[in-house]
Amino acid sequence: MIRTLKALLVGCGGISRTWLKALKDIPGVVLVGFVDVREEAARARAEEYDWSGALVTTDLTTALEQTRPDVVFDCTIPEAHHDVTLTALRHGCHVLGEKPLADTLEHAQEMVAAAQAAGKIYAVIQNRRYDANIRRLKHFLDSGVLGRITTLNSDFYIGAHFGGFRDHMKHVLLVDMAIHTFDMARMLSGADAQAVYCYEWNPAGSWYDHAASAVATFEMSDGLVYSYRGSWCAEGLNTTWEGAWRIIGERGTVLWDGASGFTAQVVARKGGFFSEWETVEVPPYEDPKKTGGHAGVIREFLQCVRNGQTPETVCTDNIKSLAMVFGAVASAESHAVVRIASGG
Ligand SMILES: NC(=O)c1ccc[n+]([C@@H]2O[C@H](COP(=O)([O-])OP(=O)(O)OC[C@H]3O[C@@H](n4cnc5c(N)ncnc54)[C@H](O)[C@@H]3O)[C@@H](O)[C@H]2O)c1
Repeated sequence: MIRTLKALLVGCGGISRTWLKALKDIPGVVLVGFVDVREEAARARAEEYDWSGALVTTDLTTALEQTRPDVVFDCTIPEAHHDVTLTALRHGCHVLGEKPLADTLEHAQEMVAAAQAAGKIYAVIQNRRYDANIRRLKHFLDSGVLGRITTLNSDFYIGAHFGGFRDHMKHVLLVDMAIHTFDMARMLSGADAQAVYCYEWNPAGSWYDHAASAVATFEMSDGLVYSYRGSWCAEGLNTTWEGAWRIIGERGTVLWDGASGFTAQVVARKGGFFSEWETVEVPPYEDPKKTGGHAGVIREFLQCVRNGQTPETVCTDNIKSLAMVFGAVASAESHAVVRIASGG
């Protein structure tokens, strides 16, 4: 028998639907309250997903005091993550929050310190890590077939007409989306960023108020280099949301289209102007514990709350991906290379 956990959902906008759909299939968790500064949004979600017995309110502290949840799910906008997380931790809750961890690195550091002082888990949804294809690629890289990884390139080109807060947000691509891609680069390489140069711009014809395109080069640990190119304002020939990747090791290269398409070549014979290369398979690989997108992250988080283990996307690790984002932002603003601290 697993222990049933009481959960409070804060922020009942677009992404909360993905959470609530996932929670329908996860046993051992009951939603005791829905909080949103727009009461009608909270009520709509509670009714839509059949939690009509749950408390609906605009006030987080009241909800925490009345329902005494074990965990808080934070699906609010980035600017609210700091307050929601600190309030939830003060009330003795574990927190799983939407990406990005925080709206500034200073807020993130404060949140990480608060979680450590409280002895509670604070983890972040990085759902793209919990994708079957990236796990297959990671397994292939870890097998050592390519040798030591030296270079990662990723392209992210999606013409997304969101409407809403993103259209008016500064550094929208870097802060709201590139966090996923940068986090994937850390996961795939096992390396952390040490410095970055980033150039950001808003292309002609953009429907965003601020820069929606960026290129960035990261110096990573172990001598690895990661190059990022991306735009949320590119019409035609979209990449997947996972991006298109080229990863080079000492003995070969793998291409990943961000879906189920992999191509890999390794050196068969050296000595000529070009080496002779052979195509190798990226073998099928399944890890049901680490797949399922949002559902996978939520399931692992709840299990860790029960057994005291640490989830993969715990804040102490995730802040290193966030530091890449804010390093890139600082570089784009200053047109200079920015160093990134090892612990975020
Ligand atoms: N992991 C993913 O793939 C993914 C996808 C989309 C969005 N997100 C993230 O989810 C978060 C929310 O995005 P969204 O698209 O759902 O935005 P949204 O604007 O649709 O919803 C946010 C909700 O939070 C509420 N809110 C704002 N401040 C609040 C506060 N202080 N207390 C309570 N409620 C508050 C708003 O009223 C709104 O209902 C963002 O951090 C975003 O980056 C993640």
